[in-house]
Amino acid sequence: MAGRIPQMFIDDLLTRTDIVEVIDARVQLKQAGREYKACCPFHNEKTPSFTVSQVKQFYHCFGCGAHGTAITFLMEFEHMDFVEAVEELAHTAGLEVPREAGYASQTQAGTQPLYDLLEKASTFYQQQLRSHPQAGRAVDYLKQRGLSGEVAARFGVGFAPPGWDNLLTALGTDETARKRLQETGLVIERSGGSGVYDRFRDRIQFPIHDRRGRTIGFGGRVLGDDTPKYLNSPESSVFHKGQELYGLYEVRKAMRKLERLLVVEGYMDVVALAQFDINYAVATLGTATTPEHLERLFRTAPEVVFCFDGDRAGRAAAWRALENALSVLRDGREARFLFLPEGEDPDSLVRQIGKEKFEQQIGEAVHLSDFFFDQLASGLDIDSIDGRARLVDQARPLLARLPDSVFRQLMIERLGELARTDAARLEERFESPAEKEKQQPDRPAPSPRQHSERSPIREAIAILLHQPELAQRLEALPFPPSELLPGIPLLSELFELLQQQPGLTTGSVLEHWRGREEARHLSKLAQWKPLADDIDLEAELRGHLGRITRLLAERRIGQLLDEEHKHPLNSQEKQELKELLQGRQPGN
Ligand code: UTP
Ligand code: MN
Repeated sequence: MAGRIPQMFIDDLLTRTDIVEVIDARVQLKQAGREYKACCPFHNEKTPSFTVSQVKQFYHCFGCGAHGTAITFLMEFEHMDFVEAVEELAHTAGLEVPREAGYASQTQAGTQPLYDLLEKASTFYQQQLRSHPQAGRAVDYLKQRGLSGEVAARFGVGFAPPGWDNLLTALGTDETARKRLQETGLVIERSGGSGVYDRFRDRIQFPIHDRRGRTIGFGGRVLGDDTPKYLNSPESSVFHKGQELYGLYEVRKAMRKLERLLVVEGYMDVVALAQFDINYAVATLGTATTPEHLERLFRTAPEVVFCFDGDRAGRAAAWRALENALSVLRDGREARFLFLPEGEDPDSLVRQIGKEKFEQQIGEAVHLSDFFFDQLASGLDIDSIDGRARLVDQARPLLARLPDSVFRQLMIERLGELARTDAARLEERFESPAEKEKQQPDRPAPSPRQHSERSPIREAIAILLHQPELAQRLEALPFPPSELLPGIPLLSELFELLQQQPGLTTGSVLEHWRGREEARHLSKLAQWKPLADDIDLEAELRGHLGRITRLLAERRIGQLLDEEHKHPLNSQEKQELKELLQGRQPGN
């Protein structure tokens, strides 16, 4: 995989792509006025609130809040990553995806050799499992753990032979190669700096793959009862434990459409389950489940079942997973918890009871809602007023993390039942002021405009995203890209892009911000629509820009007056202040 995909290509690709076709090929759309509608593929609903705008090249669901571009749609719906989605669209458009050479020489030169080396190491370990004089011990161990050659091969299981320099001799052919082996953590520097030695010795090797199947690290298990039982590759520029899941690549390869993922703790659990034809288990890599993990999990399947020990530590770990899961649980996604009997892990359990019974247990896993309330209530006396008040107190900040959804509504109602209070009143106390505003009866039907504060900066950005060509009709912004007000740098950057590249749709504009912090704000604002069709948006925009100019002047005046308290202003500052204060006069 060479260099980064140039932004120019993404722009070009999106011009040749029609989001309506992309989505319609997967979810049947119906025309409704200038837009297209369907029942949302990302949550369950009976009346369509999923809307696709051909003009904007953007989709948005009023029910669950899912939104994005053609690329986002493929990522969400087909569980692709960014590059896969781009490749898919390019394929349909008959384009070849180019790669940026500059980027390649910088980043690829840094990581590509590491990927190559890790791949070679994986091949080496697998060969050793077949041909090393002591391989018999490793093979016996795997057999004794019930692993077939077929499953071992599917997961690329290998053997790091005993000795300090097997890998080093095989792959560390020159100084550069040895440096790189060290960068991947496959070899370790001796204390004192006199040379290096193999990290993994006399261990069963489990290669860890990223989503694209590249080997990024290893877990190595001792053959007996030595400690540490497992050694893992350290973090490196290609291996980040908090993001990767062992087995995810193999799962995606084995099953195209996934209904469910099972999250377990160990390498052996994943492999043993696969041995029993349960091909949807993945493992975290000795870390707790991170928010990145959860994003990745739910992007792959709508239901995620976490397997934990039934003991105290297991329940604590499950609770942490729950806390991290809340914010990604929009409608259509479900998290459940399977607590295993004392002393068992998925590996031992599936061997004991077999596939069918194991899957039955998965099917009976505890729903997040039950675990949530049981766990919260367990330390409280729900029969007392104080206990119920504390329940509400503890539940509120957690439930507030849930995206606006039917599930959230039901959770709040359940809390109301348990606390024996009115859910509607509880809910009032959950809402941010902006959400309350949207429900006031004298307001027009909720449009995304009411979701956020109506600062002129937000309004200006929203209008520009709605009608990018307006940027052509304005000469320039009437103010510099000042940091005095938050949002101005973003507005300035957006404006400049739109002036330089006429013809971008809302969708392709958003793709310029993919992966950046501001992307979230922008895509929220992109859902804004004028309240009526005949509003003169250019005049509105100019009005907001004028308001921003005045706000900036006020800020600057405040700043200068503050300065003046601290030290005398220089002549330039005095002049500036004078002009600003004059500008305040009515008529200006
Ligand atoms: P377990 O000890 O539960 O592993 O650790 P397991 O897979 O059931 O091991 P077997 O069945 O005895 O072979 C679970 C996970 O915790 C990490 C590994 O990722 C392991 O898969 N771990 C465990 C370590 O990193 N180091 C250790 O020493 C032990
Ligand atoms: Mn085990």
